[in-house]
Amino acid sequence: MTKPKVFVTRRIPEEGLRLLEAACEVDVWPEDLPPSRDALLERVRGVEGILSMLTERIDAEVMDAAGPQLKVISNYAVGYDNVDIPAATARGIPVGHTPGVLTETTADFAFALLMAAARRLVEADAFVRAGRWKTWEPQRLLGVDIYGATLGLVGLGRIGRAVARRALGFGMRVLYYDPAVPSEDAPAGCSPAALDTLLRQADFISLHVPLTPQTRRLIDAAAFAKMKPTAVLVNTARGPVVDPQALYEALSSRRIFAAALDVTDPEPIPPDSPLLQLDNLVIAPHIGSASRATRGKMARIAAENLLAGLRGAPLLHRVGVAGD
Ligand code: DGY
Repeated sequence: MTKPKVFVTRRIPEEGLRLLEAACEVDVWPEDLPPSRDALLERVRGVEGILSMLTERIDAEVMDAAGPQLKVISNYAVGYDNVDIPAATARGIPVGHTPGVLTETTADFAFALLMAAARRLVEADAFVRAGRWKTWEPQRLLGVDIYGATLGLVGLGRIGRAVARRALGFGMRVLYYDPAVPSEDAPAGCSPAALDTLLRQADFISLHVPLTPQTRRLIDAAAFAKMKPTAVLVNTARGPVVDPQALYEALSSRRIFAAALDVTDPEPIPPDSPLLQLDNLVIAPHIGSASRATRGKMARIAAENLLAGLRGAPLLHRVGVAGD
Protein backbone atom coordinates (compact mmCIF):
# COMPACT_ATOMS: atom_id res chain seq x y z
CA MET A 1 0.00 0.00 0.00
CA THR A 2 1.39 3.43 -0.85
CA LYS A 3 2.02 5.70 2.09
CA PRO A 4 0.51 9.20 2.13
CA LYS A 5 2.94 12.00 1.32
CA VAL A 6 3.40 14.74 3.89
CA PHE A 7 5.57 17.84 4.03
CA VAL A 8 7.12 18.94 7.33
CA THR A 9 8.43 22.48 7.11
CA ARG A 10 11.39 21.98 9.53
CA ARG A 11 13.12 19.22 11.44
CA ILE A 12 10.99 18.59 14.54
CA PRO A 13 12.00 16.45 17.55
CA GLU A 14 12.29 12.70 16.99
CA GLU A 15 9.21 11.95 19.13
CA GLY A 16 7.06 13.30 16.31
CA LEU A 17 9.18 12.47 13.30
CA ARG A 18 9.38 8.76 14.20
CA LEU A 19 5.58 8.51 14.26
CA LEU A 20 5.29 10.16 10.87
CA GLU A 21 8.04 8.09 9.27
CA ALA A 22 6.35 4.86 10.32
CA ALA A 23 3.17 5.76 8.46
CA CYS A 24 3.99 8.29 5.74
CA GLU A 25 6.34 9.27 2.99
CA VAL A 26 7.85 12.23 4.80
CA ASP A 27 9.55 15.19 3.14
CA VAL A 28 11.25 17.29 5.82
CA TRP A 29 12.60 20.73 4.94
CA PRO A 30 16.25 20.23 5.89
CA GLU A 31 17.41 23.79 6.57
CA ASP A 32 17.40 25.88 9.73
CA LEU A 33 15.66 28.75 7.97
CA PRO A 34 12.08 28.19 6.79
CA PRO A 35 11.37 27.35 3.15
CA SER A 36 10.95 30.40 0.92
CA ARG A 37 7.44 31.02 -0.32
CA ASP A 38 8.33 29.49 -3.71
CA ALA A 39 9.92 26.45 -2.10
CA LEU A 40 6.87 25.99 0.13
CA LEU A 41 4.47 26.16 -2.82
CA GLU A 42 6.64 23.66 -4.69
CA ARG A 43 7.15 21.18 -1.84
CA VAL A 44 3.48 20.95 -0.85
CA ARG A 45 2.41 19.92 -4.36
CA GLY A 46 0.60 16.57 -4.16
CA VAL A 47 0.86 16.09 -0.36
CA GLU A 48 -1.99 14.87 1.83
CA GLY A 49 -0.70 16.54 4.97
CA ILE A 50 1.30 19.63 5.90
CA LEU A 51 3.02 19.94 9.28
CA SER A 52 3.81 23.65 9.56
CA MET A 53 5.63 25.99 11.93
CA LEU A 54 4.43 29.45 13.00
CA THR A 55 6.96 30.89 10.51
CA GLU A 56 4.98 29.75 7.44
CA ARG A 57 1.90 31.47 6.15
CA ILE A 58 -0.47 28.64 5.26
CA ASP A 59 -3.14 30.32 3.20
CA ALA A 60 -5.46 29.51 0.28
CA GLU A 61 -2.56 29.71 -2.19
CA VAL A 62 -0.62 27.04 -0.29
CA MET A 63 -3.70 24.83 0.11
CA ASP A 64 -4.46 25.10 -3.60
CA ALA A 65 -0.83 24.50 -4.53
CA ALA A 66 -1.00 21.27 -2.51
CA GLY A 67 -4.11 20.18 -4.39
CA PRO A 68 -7.54 18.72 -3.65
CA GLN A 69 -6.05 15.61 -1.96
CA LEU A 70 -4.80 17.77 0.96
CA LYS A 71 -6.50 16.29 4.03
CA VAL A 72 -4.98 18.01 7.05
CA ILE A 73 -2.81 20.88 8.27
CA SER A 74 -1.06 20.42 11.58
CA ASN A 75 0.59 23.47 13.14
CA TYR A 76 3.52 22.86 15.50
CA ALA A 77 2.33 25.56 17.95
CA VAL A 78 -0.65 26.42 20.08
CA GLY A 79 -1.09 29.70 18.16
CA TYR A 80 -2.41 29.45 14.63
CA ASP A 81 -2.55 33.00 13.36
CA ASN A 82 -0.24 31.88 10.53
CA VAL A 83 -2.95 29.58 9.14
CA ASP A 84 -5.93 30.93 7.21
CA ILE A 85 -8.62 29.04 9.11
CA PRO A 86 -11.57 30.22 6.96
CA ALA A 87 -9.69 29.08 3.83
CA ALA A 88 -9.06 25.66 5.41
CA THR A 89 -12.68 25.38 6.58
CA ALA A 90 -13.95 26.30 3.11
CA ARG A 91 -11.91 23.40 1.72
CA GLY A 92 -12.98 20.98 4.48
CA ILE A 93 -9.41 20.72 5.81
CA PRO A 94 -9.09 20.36 9.60
CA VAL A 95 -6.30 22.34 11.26
CA GLY A 96 -4.50 20.92 14.28
CA HIS A 97 -2.46 22.69 16.96
CA THR A 98 -0.68 21.83 20.21
CA PRO A 99 -2.39 23.38 23.24
CA GLY A 100 -1.84 22.27 26.82
CA VAL A 101 1.61 20.72 26.72
CA LEU A 102 3.43 24.04 26.50
CA THR A 103 1.39 25.92 29.10
CA GLU A 104 3.67 25.57 32.12
CA THR A 105 6.89 25.90 30.12
CA THR A 106 5.70 29.13 28.53
CA ALA A 107 4.43 30.47 31.86
CA ASP A 108 7.85 29.72 33.41
CA PHE A 109 9.45 31.75 30.67
CA ALA A 110 7.02 34.65 31.00
CA PHE A 111 7.84 34.76 34.69
CA ALA A 112 11.57 34.53 33.99
CA LEU A 113 11.26 37.53 31.65
CA LEU A 114 9.21 39.43 34.22
CA MET A 115 11.84 38.85 36.90
CA ALA A 116 14.76 39.57 34.59
CA ALA A 117 13.28 42.92 33.55
CA ALA A 118 12.25 43.87 37.10
CA ARG A 119 15.67 43.13 38.59
CA ARG A 120 17.70 44.21 35.55
CA LEU A 121 19.35 40.81 35.31
CA VAL A 122 20.63 41.13 31.74
CA GLU A 123 22.12 44.57 32.43
CA ALA A 124 23.72 43.21 35.59
CA ASP A 125 25.28 40.31 33.71
CA ALA A 126 26.69 42.67 31.05
CA PHE A 127 27.97 44.98 33.79
CA VAL A 128 29.98 42.21 35.43
CA ARG A 129 31.33 40.80 32.16
CA ALA A 130 32.47 44.28 31.12
CA GLY A 131 34.70 44.44 34.21
CA ARG A 132 32.66 47.25 35.75
CA TRP A 133 32.04 45.54 39.13
CA LYS A 134 34.45 47.46 41.38
CA THR A 135 32.65 47.36 44.72
CA TRP A 136 29.24 46.92 46.38
CA GLU A 137 27.30 50.07 45.56
CA PRO A 138 24.27 51.41 47.41
CA GLN A 139 22.51 52.66 44.27
CA ARG A 140 23.72 50.47 41.42
CA LEU A 141 21.23 48.58 39.21
CA LEU A 142 18.17 49.32 41.28
CA GLY A 143 15.09 47.52 40.05
CA VAL A 144 11.44 47.21 41.02
CA ASP A 145 9.94 44.75 43.51
CA ILE A 146 7.88 41.75 42.49
CA TYR A 147 6.63 40.76 45.93
CA GLY A 148 3.49 42.75 46.76
CA ALA A 149 3.21 44.23 43.26
CA THR A 150 0.14 44.07 41.03
CA LEU A 151 0.25 41.85 37.97
CA GLY A 152 -2.18 42.65 35.14
CA LEU A 153 -2.84 39.67 32.87
CA VAL A 154 -4.24 40.54 29.46
CA GLY A 155 -5.85 37.23 28.55
CA LEU A 156 -6.75 34.56 31.13
CA GLY A 157 -6.52 31.39 29.07
CA ARG A 158 -4.30 28.44 29.93
CA ILE A 159 -1.01 30.32 29.93
CA GLY A 160 -2.42 33.42 31.62
CA ARG A 161 -3.75 31.22 34.45
CA ALA A 162 -0.41 29.43 34.79
CA VAL A 163 1.33 32.81 35.11
CA ALA A 164 -1.27 33.82 37.72
CA ARG A 165 -0.38 30.75 39.82
CA ARG A 166 3.27 31.76 39.81
CA ALA A 167 2.40 35.37 40.64
CA LEU A 168 0.21 34.37 43.59
CA GLY A 169 3.12 32.29 44.91
CA PHE A 170 5.25 35.42 44.78
CA GLY A 171 2.73 37.37 46.86
CA MET A 172 1.45 39.46 43.95
CA ARG A 173 -2.05 40.85 43.52
CA VAL A 174 -3.48 39.61 40.22
CA LEU A 175 -5.86 41.51 37.95
CA TYR A 176 -7.00 40.18 34.61
CA TYR A 177 -8.69 41.53 31.53
CA ASP A 178 -10.48 38.87 29.52
CA PRO A 179 -14.05 39.48 28.33
CA ALA A 180 -14.47 35.71 27.85
CA VAL A 181 -13.84 34.95 31.54
CA PRO A 182 -16.48 36.25 33.99
CA SER A 183 -15.30 36.63 37.58
CA GLU A 184 -17.14 33.46 38.68
CA ASP A 185 -15.01 31.42 36.24
CA ALA A 186 -11.71 33.02 37.29
CA PRO A 187 -9.30 31.15 39.56
CA ALA A 188 -9.12 32.22 43.22
CA GLY A 189 -7.01 35.30 43.66
CA CYS A 190 -7.59 36.69 40.14
CA SER A 191 -9.83 39.78 39.95
CA PRO A 192 -11.39 41.02 36.71
CA ALA A 193 -10.66 44.56 35.56
CA ALA A 194 -11.41 46.73 32.56
CA LEU A 195 -8.37 47.04 30.31
CA ASP A 196 -8.09 50.72 31.17
CA THR A 197 -8.05 49.99 34.92
CA LEU A 198 -5.55 47.19 34.50
CA LEU A 199 -3.19 49.40 32.49
CA ARG A 200 -3.39 52.14 35.13
CA GLN A 201 -3.03 49.90 38.20
CA ALA A 202 -0.66 47.14 37.20
CA ASP A 203 3.02 47.18 38.06
CA PHE A 204 3.56 44.31 35.62
CA ILE A 205 1.47 43.72 32.50
CA SER A 206 1.79 40.32 30.87
CA LEU A 207 0.13 39.55 27.52
CA HIS A 208 -1.55 36.18 26.93
CA VAL A 209 -3.95 36.75 24.03
CA PRO A 210 -3.96 35.15 20.61
CA LEU A 211 -3.26 37.43 17.65
CA THR A 212 -6.59 38.42 16.11
CA PRO A 213 -7.86 41.59 14.41
CA GLN A 214 -9.10 42.67 17.88
CA THR A 215 -5.77 42.18 19.65
CA ARG A 216 -3.45 43.53 16.92
CA ARG A 217 -1.83 46.72 18.37
CA LEU A 218 -3.88 46.38 21.55
CA ILE A 219 -0.90 47.88 23.34
CA ASP A 220 -0.41 51.15 21.48
CA ALA A 221 0.70 54.67 22.41
CA ALA A 222 -2.60 55.33 24.20
CA ALA A 223 -2.13 52.17 26.29
CA PHE A 224 1.44 53.09 27.23
CA ALA A 225 0.22 56.57 28.24
CA LYS A 226 -2.00 54.96 30.90
CA MET A 227 0.76 52.80 32.44
CA LYS A 228 2.69 53.67 35.59
CA PRO A 229 6.22 55.05 35.06
CA THR A 230 7.41 51.99 37.01
CA ALA A 231 5.46 49.51 34.84
CA VAL A 232 7.05 46.49 33.20
CA LEU A 233 5.48 45.01 30.06
CA VAL A 234 5.99 41.32 29.25
CA ASN A 235 5.02 39.84 25.89
CA THR A 236 5.20 36.10 25.30
CA ALA A 237 2.07 36.06 23.10
CA ARG A 238 2.51 37.47 19.59
CA GLY A 239 4.61 40.46 18.53
CA PRO A 240 1.92 42.43 16.67
CA VAL A 241 -0.17 42.75 19.86
CA VAL A 242 2.26 45.58 20.74
CA ASP A 243 2.94 48.61 18.53
CA PRO A 244 6.75 48.52 18.25
CA GLN A 245 7.13 52.26 17.61
CA ALA A 246 5.00 53.09 20.66
CA LEU A 247 7.02 50.58 22.69
CA TYR A 248 10.26 52.24 21.60
CA GLU A 249 8.95 55.65 22.60
CA ALA A 250 7.67 54.39 25.97
CA LEU A 251 10.99 52.73 26.82
CA SER A 252 13.38 55.35 25.47
CA SER A 253 11.53 58.20 27.22
CA ARG A 254 11.29 56.10 30.42
CA ARG A 255 7.49 56.46 30.23
CA ILE A 256 7.60 52.89 31.58
CA PHE A 257 10.37 51.17 33.49
CA ALA A 258 11.11 48.20 31.24
CA ALA A 259 9.81 45.60 28.82
CA ALA A 260 10.62 41.96 28.23
CA LEU A 261 9.77 40.38 24.90
CA ASP A 262 9.85 36.85 23.62
CA VAL A 263 8.00 37.90 20.46
CA THR A 264 8.39 40.91 18.19
CA ASP A 265 6.91 42.57 15.14
CA PRO A 266 8.41 41.87 12.72
CA GLU A 267 9.88 38.56 13.75
CA PRO A 268 12.80 38.15 13.84
CA ILE A 269 13.50 41.70 14.96
CA PRO A 270 15.95 43.35 12.51
CA PRO A 271 19.44 43.58 14.06
CA ASP A 272 19.43 47.36 13.48
CA SER A 273 16.12 47.91 15.31
CA PRO A 274 16.46 50.89 17.69
CA LEU A 275 14.78 48.74 20.36
CA LEU A 276 17.97 46.71 20.59
CA GLN A 277 19.88 49.81 21.72
CA LEU A 278 17.80 50.13 24.88
CA ASP A 279 19.09 48.86 28.21
CA ASN A 280 15.57 48.63 29.67
CA LEU A 281 14.52 45.95 27.18
CA VAL A 282 15.10 42.23 27.75
CA ILE A 283 14.58 40.20 24.61
CA ALA A 284 14.55 36.54 23.56
CA PRO A 285 14.04 34.86 20.17
CA HIS A 286 10.54 33.35 20.67
CA ILE A 287 11.62 30.52 22.96
CA GLY A 288 8.75 30.46 25.46
CA SER A 289 7.97 26.79 24.80
CA ALA A 290 11.58 25.80 24.22
CA SER A 291 12.32 23.10 26.75
CA ARG A 292 13.45 19.72 25.40
CA ALA A 293 10.54 17.90 27.01
CA THR A 294 7.88 20.35 25.84
CA ARG A 295 9.10 20.59 22.27
CA GLY A 296 9.11 16.77 22.19
CA LYS A 297 5.50 16.66 23.39
CA MET A 298 4.51 19.31 20.85
CA ALA A 299 6.12 17.23 18.10
CA ARG A 300 4.21 14.15 19.19
CA ILE A 301 0.87 15.97 19.26
CA ALA A 302 1.52 17.66 15.92
CA ALA A 303 2.34 14.24 14.40
CA GLU A 304 -0.73 12.62 15.97
CA ASN A 305 -2.94 15.43 14.67
CA LEU A 306 -1.51 14.92 11.20
CA LEU A 307 -1.93 11.14 11.27
CA ALA A 308 -5.53 11.42 12.51
CA GLY A 309 -6.35 13.86 9.73
CA LEU A 310 -4.85 11.52 7.15
CA ARG A 311 -7.08 8.70 8.41
CA GLY A 312 -10.10 11.00 8.40
CA ALA A 313 -10.36 10.61 12.19
CA PRO A 314 -10.96 13.48 14.68
CA LEU A 315 -7.76 15.36 15.50
CA LEU A 316 -6.42 15.26 19.05
CA HIS A 317 -6.53 19.07 19.09
CA ARG A 318 -8.43 20.74 16.30
CA VAL A 319 -8.65 24.51 15.94
CA GLY A 320 -12.21 25.73 16.41
CA VAL A 321 -13.37 22.77 18.49
CA ALA A 322 -14.66 23.83 21.93
CA GLY A 323 -12.06 23.24 24.63
CA ASP A 324 -9.15 23.59 22.20
C1 DGY B 1 3.05 28.72 20.18
O1 DGY B 1 2.97 27.50 20.39
O2 DGY B 1 2.12 29.35 19.66
C2 DGY B 1 4.30 29.41 20.59
O3 DGY B 1 4.36 30.71 20.17
C3 DGY B 1 5.53 28.63 20.17
O4 DGY B 1 5.56 27.47 20.90
